[in-house]
Amino acid sequence: MKKDLISLADLSLADIEKILALAAKLKRRNQPKLLRDKALGLIFKKSSTRTRVSFEVAIRQLGGYSTFLRTEDVQIGRGESIADTAKVLSRYLNGIVIRTFDHNEIVEFAKNASIPVINGLTDLSHPCQVLCDLFTILERKKRLQGLKVAYIGDGSNNMAHSWIYAAIKAGIELTIATPKKYPPSAAVQKAVRAFTSQKGRFTVTVDPQAAALGADVLYTDVWVSMGQEKERDEKIRAFRPYQVNAQLVALAKRDCMVMHCLPAHRGEEITADVIDGKHSVVFDQAENRLHVQKAILALLMG
Ligand code: CP
Ligand code: NVA
Repeated sequence: MKKDLISLADLSLADIEKILALAAKLKRRNQPKLLRDKALGLIFKKSSTRTRVSFEVAIRQLGGYSTFLRTEDVQIGRGESIADTAKVLSRYLNGIVIRTFDHNEIVEFAKNASIPVINGLTDLSHPCQVLCDLFTILERKKRLQGLKVAYIGDGSNNMAHSWIYAAIKAGIELTIATPKKYPPSAAVQKAVRAFTSQKGRFTVTVDPQAAALGADVLYTDVWVSMGQEKERDEKIRAFRPYQVNAQLVALAKRDCMVMHCLPAHRGEEITADVIDGKHSVVFDQAENRLHVQKAILALLMG
């Protein structure tokens, strides 16, 4: 495995399987103190409930501790360079999770840090979430290869991008239903074409019903991601036909799983009856962030 976890594009299928297997083990049995006295830093430029709390609890349960740094409180918020910050924090910490807007900031940080750098979400991708999603699917379906996942909503956001990488690597048939104006990033599509192994595939359609038909998993995310607040009215209008509701669920397999990375907006991307209904696994999915991130921390910082 590489030093950092910045994008699923950098992970081999063997790396992914190793993370998922260790997560299963850590979920099953008592916590061995794999990271005794190790320090994990978290630099967050955006809000977070799940990522922040699950990483903080994960490192503690593994015997280490965390220090949470809001960008406003550290010198990086006043213009200290990313390179200098990365070099200094590498002298104190054993690993760092970063949540920010511009993906290049994490890449730059990692280049200058001697410690593992973990992407806790950027505008471009959200790898830790999708690793947790794969784990949650595997728990229930006992396989990933050959499954049909329909991602309904914003095809241009971080979740869609990480899902594309995951699907190609793990042998999943991913269909992204999104309006024409919101396709996945051209850079992500290009990166995928260069993967040496193409076990899965992804297609993009404007038709949510076609995507949902026969799906094993219906996945959705917010229509307005953090940082896009100004585009809210336009996006709400564009995505209205892309709601995961009972009609859409009826098109999927009878035992389909409904997933959402959360936070959710009931009545927008998903209806209350569906997210709180029998197909929904969203709270198990949220719990699994803790187990999967323990595995990530143990493998990168151990
Ligand atoms: N799913 C997720 O990353 O949630 P938070 O924004 O609360 O961390
Ligand atoms: N696409 C969402 C994911 C939140 C976990 C956002 O970036 O706001």
